[in-house]
Amino acid sequence: MLANNRQQTSQPLLEVNDLQTHLVLGRGTLKAVDGVSFSLNRGQTLGIVGESGSGKTLTSMSIIRLLPKPSGRIVGGSIKFDGIDIVSLPEKEIAKNWRGNRISMVLQDPLTSLNPVYSIADQLGQPFRYHYKDMSRREIRDASIEMLRKVRIPAPEKRLASYPHQFSGGMRQRAVIAMAIAAKPELLIADEPTSALDVTIQIQIMDLFRKLQEETGVSIIMITHDMGVAAQLCDRVAVMYAGRIVEIGDARDIFKRPAHPYTQGLLQSIPKIGQRQKRLYAIPGQPPSLFNPPKGCRFADRCPHRMPKCDVYPPTVELESGHSAACWLLESKA
Ligand SMILES: Nc1ncnc2c1ncn2[C@@H]1O[C@H](COP(=O)(O)OP(=O)(O)O)[C@@H](O)[C@H]1O
Ligand SMILES: [Mg+2]
Repeated sequence: MLANNRQQTSQPLLEVNDLQTHLVLGRGTLKAVDGVSFSLNRGQTLGIVGESGSGKTLTSMSIIRLLPKPSGRIVGGSIKFDGIDIVSLPEKEIAKNWRGNRISMVLQDPLTSLNPVYSIADQLGQPFRYHYKDMSRREIRDASIEMLRKVRIPAPEKRLASYPHQFSGGMRQRAVIAMAIAAKPELLIADEPTSALDVTIQIQIMDLFRKLQEETGVSIIMITHDMGVAAQLCDRVAVMYAGRIVEIGDARDIFKRPAHPYTQGLLQSIPKIGQRQKRLYAIPGQPPSLFNPPKGCRFADRCPHRMPKCDVYPPTVELESGHSAACWLLESKA
């Protein structure tokens, strides 16, 4: 009954509201995430895109509560998961009931997520030993084989005894994904999970995420600097720039009618199939410092449409249902 009610509710799985995450460093306070809001429904994939340094990783580290120590702290906003604000939950509670369990994460480089001195069996068994204390060794072994099968690693019974260095890059990333989904999370955050892999393997891993979502109904946050990946995999896309979301909407709307000049710039920098380009377009200039970000639009210095008004932070304008962007060019559409 209860489970049924839960599935029928239209409440989003995740609601992030005005999240502010700072890193207190010797040089000053870095406002890495500066008022980020978005929501994610069950079974859906949200892409977070943006150039390096825009705050994508620290947004996700805030959600899973793995901020750099001792500098990182959430200083404002809320992160509601299934209606519960997890920002104020103590670390002990997060470690026991949330991280790896309800919320799980796959990092960019599988080498940093796997320990070279332990076998795949040891590492795959870890989430089971941690979250399901009553499982027997035999049950853990069977469950680990099942997980390797789920991520399409061939001959999983034989592979279990291997060490990470005996796996290819793509296989290691599959093993890391297996560990991340072992305790059946409701939210899987993947932080640039294919950036360290070559293009054919990237496509296979993205395909794996899609299949796992179909099979398990897991919600996914896919962090990527690659608009092509976002287009393939995501239902909704949030574009981050200098600690803020500058545009968010259904993937189709974002790609058909990008409203923010920054999104337009990112889209121009995707290589087009069948079209030979001498050099890929890159948006000129650099993002502003997050120690002391400008008061106005943070993209203004690099924007081809800059106006005097841009010295004031632009309002967020809703363009169509669920699609909004923060830019003065859209003022007339408000
Ligand atoms: N551990 C850290 N120590 C100091 N600065 C950091 C650390 N992690 C991230 N930053 C800084 O915080 C900002 C946001 O970083 P990040 O969230 O990693 O961006 P992205 O994932 O979009 O590349 C950047 O300016 C980055 O240099
Ligand atoms: Mg990152």
